[in-house]
Amino acid sequence: MSRIIGIVNLKGGVGKTTTCVNLGAALALYGFKVLLVDLDPQKSLTGWAGINQWPTVGDVLTGEVDPLQTLVKWSKAKCWVMPAGRDLRAIETQLLSVSQREYVLRPKLQRLNDYDFILIDSAPSYGLLTINAICASDEIVIPLQTEILSLESTIPFFETLGEIKKRFHPKLRIAGILPNMYDSRTNLSKAILDQMRASEHLGPLMFKTFIRKNVKLAETPSMGYAVTRYSASHGAEDYRTLAEEILNDDDRKKIEMFKQAAAEAKSPRIINLDLLEPTDGDKELKSNQDEEGTEEVLESEVYEERLNSAENL
Ligand SMILES: Nc1ncnc2c1ncn2[C@@H]1O[C@H](COP(=O)(O)OP(=O)(O)OP(=O)(O)O)[C@@H](O)[C@H]1O
Ligand SMILES: [Mg+2]
Repeated sequence: MSRIIGIVNLKGGVGKTTTCVNLGAALALYGFKVLLVDLDPQKSLTGWAGINQWPTVGDVLTGEVDPLQTLVKWSKAKCWVMPAGRDLRAIETQLLSVSQREYVLRPKLQRLNDYDFILIDSAPSYGLLTINAICASDEIVIPLQTEILSLESTIPFFETLGEIKKRFHPKLRIAGILPNMYDSRTNLSKAILDQMRASEHLGPLMFKTFIRKNVKLAETPSMGYAVTRYSASHGAEDYRTLAEEILNDDDRKKIEMFKQAAAEAKSPRIINLDLLEPTDGDKELKSNQDEEGTEEVLESEVYEERLNSAENL
């Protein structure tokens, strides 16, 4: 069964898409099969992945296509993507006349149980798409900027979230609140993070991990890469730490199984996971970077181990 995690905040620009992609890519480094679903009409994730194809998540919502028909491999993030199309806002309006309209996405994603993780990127607006993202999720991650205005916006957001949970999805779990864009050079970031942690309501929900402000996180979308696949950076490090924090006991057991299967070189995933092979783009990037001497493409230990065993097949 997949763990379905929505990345949600009604405030714009807090790092939902950044988190969806980079957390997904960090989880993929362990060997997990990860699907990223773009449920935002802005299509930022789809654009980042460089995907421009039909059918899309909109066609899944209208029931016109099977979800499997929409999935695209994104090698530079080691993930699969269910892309968004231009029609998503119009489809949100169409959903208004559908019965059980809050639960349209959930059964479609639950069928994709070959994925270990399904991460849903959501829009910064309150509407049926976001409600579907929440209702399709077992748990949600809430990125929050470490700044006063962002903190203030959490009050109405948590009221809305509480309402959605009560009315539509009582079993929803908050995986954690993720402080983002932490600027270690300012006292303000530290003061706000301390304030969040000390808060009676927010404190217990906070991840230990926080994401530092990092230029690589802002640069990688234009290059089509997830940061964990691009460079040694604070951004890559922080998202790997977050992935580590998100793993539960079952996930850790799976990692052990991946490792064991890799050691025995009989894992069907290793045989089939051509995602594990560096893409031409990766190789090209690495050689360019080696020449320039500025970047180093990262591989996690497990990833490296699995690559080695894949090579031995
Ligand atoms: N930790 C960070 N350090 C530097 N830049 C960041 C960081 N996190 C996000 N950004 C940048 O901030 C901008 C907003 O991030 P992102 O698009 O992920 O937010 P969002 O919540 O998905 O926005 P929207 O609500 O519009 O969908 C992007 O340009 C992104 O590259
Ligand atoms: Mg976004």
